[in-house]
Parts: sequence; structure tokens; C-alpha cells
Amino acid sequence: MSASDQLRGVVLAGGTGSRLFPLTKVTNKHLLPVGREPMIFHPVKKLVEAGVREILIVTGTEHMGAVVGLLGSGKDFGCELTYRVQDEAGGIAQALGLARGFGRGGGLVVVLGDNVFEASLAPFADSFRKQGRGAKILVKEVPDPGRYGVAVTDGDRVVRIIEKPKDPPSSLAVTGIYFYDQEVFEVIAGLRPSARGELEITDVNNAYIKRGDLTFDALPGWWTDAGTFESLKHANDLISKNS
Ligand code: G1P
Repeated sequence: MSASDQLRGVVLAGGTGSRLFPLTKVTNKHLLPVGREPMIFHPVKKLVEAGVREILIVTGTEHMGAVVGLLGSGKDFGCELTYRVQDEAGGIAQALGLARGFGRGGGLVVVLGDNVFEASLAPFADSFRKQGRGAKILVKEVPDPGRYGVAVTDGDRVVRIIEKPKDPPSSLAVTGIYFYDQEVFEVIAGLRPSARGELEITDVNNAYIKRGDLTFDALPGWWTDAGTFESLKHANDLISKNS
């Protein structure tokens, strides 16, 4: 990856959405409304706004038809969309593994399809391009860190990330916005499923920390996920208040 390379985007929109059942019984979580638009419009538009023109969407077999029907070729968003199917929900890292080959050797910016936020990703994409290798995460101070991956920092380094800790060691949530070089696919290939039977994105990030190759920035502005009833309502409130 060189500083002038364009980053390619990945939106991960799989999973069962079990925390939003029965809203997600026949509808993919990422198609639920946030403000006046389906949730998935948000990460796609944020990537395009940051200058990303090629975006891969990963979702499950049951909802791929609806997702393609909604987003189409990407023409309406000013980007080119590619789709890949995740046969069964095996975790965020497994879904990201399906992007192998898509990046064609360049850097990737990965956004979880249920993350809704205010800030532009452009400055972080620039700084990751300059970084040239490794990974970058964006963190956010939150009142309820135990719901997220939680970052433990030491000066300008993240020393550890703990997934949904009972006793959070800090209030820094790891947002669902990640930057990776192509090594990420080797890292994913070496992962073992967690206790909940999934390949965890937190294990990917901890592997980059071990290599001394992970940077972080604080995400300014508001941010939320929308994967629970409470956070979906919060996302709707934030979007309506700010649009
Ligand atoms: C996932 C990640 C977690 C991260 C969160 C951000 O959690 O596992 O580390 O903090 O996304 O939205 P999930 O929403 O799948 O429980």
C-alpha cells in the first residue's frame, strides 16, 4: 500500500440480528429504518464521502436479494458495489475474510453495517494511507463500555482490547470502523472461534497489537451502533436531531 493508493471499502451486514427479534425475523437488521433511510445507507454514504469508490457488501444468503434490490450497482451513491455471501453467521472476522481478493493488495476500510456516526472518515483514511501498513481502529468514550470491545491504552498505544468485559478497564469503546492492510487475511486465517463460536474482530485487532502494528484515533462527534432496541432508538433520535 502506498500513500497515494485508494482504499477500498467493506460494509459488513451479516449476522442474525437476534437482539432485535422479531424486527429481524424476516428483515435484515441493516435494512431497518434509521431516520428516513435504511440503516445500511449510512456506512455506504460515509465511505463515499471519504472518497472510497469501490465497496464490498457482505451479507447472509437469506437477505442478499433484498440488499442488492435496495443498493443496486451503487450508481445512486456514486460508487461501485460488489457483493459477497456469508453462508452462515460465523462472526465479523469471518465475514471480513470473504473480502480476500477484493482489496487487490491495497488497504481496506471496514465499517460495520449497524454503526451510525457523525464524523467524516476522510481524515482517518488519509492518515491510514500515510501509515502505509498495519491496522487502525477508532475509539469512542462511552458510558456503557461493557457492550463493546474495550481498549486499554498506554500513551499513544493500545495495549489490549477486551471484548464485552464484565468489568471494563476503561470507557473507550472500539467502534465498528477499522482500517487494515492485506495482512488481515493471514491474521483471520490463523484465528480460532471464541467461546461464542465466532471469529472475533477483537482477536484480529489484538493480533495487530502483538505485531506492534495497530494505531488508534478518537472518533469525534456522536457515534452509536444500532444493534439493540435501545441503541436503534438512540440512532434514530441522533439522526432526526441532526438532519
Ligand atoms: C462488535 C464488535 C465490538 C465492537 C462493536 C462496535 O460488537 O465485536 O468489538 O465494539 O461491534 O459496534 P457486536 O455489535 O457485534 O456485539
